[in-house]
Amino acid sequence: MPRGGGLMAPGARPLLLLVVWTLAALARRGLAEAGDGGWQWRGPGAPAALTEEQSCAVERRADLSYSEFVQHYAFSRPVILQGLTDNSRFRALCSRERLLASFGDSMVRLSTANTYSYRKVDLPFQEYVDHLLHPQDPTSLGNDTLYFFGDNNFSEWASLFQHYSPPPFSLLGTTTAYSFGIAGAGSGVPFHWHGPGFSEVIYGRKRWFLYPPEKTPEFHPNKTTLAWLQDIYPTLVPSAKPLECTVQAGEVLYFPDRWWHATLNLDTSVFISTFLN
Ligand SMILES: *[C@@H]1O[C@H](CO)[C@@H](O)[C@H](O)[C@H]1NC(C)=O
Ligand SMILES: *[C@@H]1O[C@H](CO)[C@@H](O)[C@H](O)[C@H]1NC(C)=O
Ligand SMILES: *[C@@H]1O[C@H](CO)[C@@H](O)[C@H](O)[C@H]1NC(C)=O
Repeated sequence: MPRGGGLMAPGARPLLLLVVWTLAALARRGLAEAGDGGWQWRGPGAPAALTEEQSCAVERRADLSYSEFVQHYAFSRPVILQGLTDNSRFRALCSRERLLASFGDSMVRLSTANTYSYRKVDLPFQEYVDHLLHPQDPTSLGNDTLYFFGDNNFSEWASLFQHYSPPPFSLLGTTTAYSFGIAGAGSGVPFHWHGPGFSEVIYGRKRWFLYPPEKTPEFHPNKTTLAWLQDIYPTLVPSAKPLECTVQAGEVLYFPDRWWHATLNLDTSVFISTFLN
């Protein structure tokens, strides 16, 4: 066998290395996109309280049928649904890079993070992402904290929402309405209630605290969920503790009519709710 007659001519080796390196870089980028969509916070520390609950008390069900849903959950208790829809295309469109490229100049309507969302502020989406999408300051009040959740412009953002597949379960006599948002680690809405609906996490994680309609929780409507978790939650006796669970990206939480709930985004999160009105 002639010298150098191994796998390739000597001059081809640097080229192969370049190809391998490029493929590896693309794969890394692909993984990062799939993992957090480029939304993970890279600045100074997120609050230490941002951890998952010790044990999730909400059932997780994969491939639940509509009749099981109606019989066991729709009118009686929350459930986390897995594998009902494939929103991988929508998820790809919700990466930081894609959303900013498509909607950076669009206005978004921000709401204060208190129970009765009093104040609304309009801001270009790019500015919201650049300046307000940071971790929640644990000492600031909910009525002084602005975040992007709901009040969406469905005509301007139609090219995005047309790719979202909502959970395929409807309830008799209800219509559906979407509410899309992106919010920093530690943000969330304090306790409130309304009609039934679904909430899907696209990127990040969202921790939920739930109480049945007859069990009004102890909370201050202008304090953040984070402040409640730090100040009130540790004082609750076991019988006064909420039902809780952290919803992971790709999962959907269903909450029945009039159930009290508060949310806490454990990471910078992208999420979409489908309300059944
Ligand atoms: C926020 O709520 C607190 C306490 O409820 C109140 O004292 C304060 O004035 C409110 N801030 C704003 C900006 O409305
Ligand atoms: C909450 O804040 C709003 C204004 O942001 C104020 O009007 C309201 O009185 C406050 N509520 C309580 C219970 O302090
Ligand atoms: C939605 O966006 C369009 C285009 O920018 C604008 O003309 C329209 O007023 C907006 N609608 C709402 C409800 O804000």
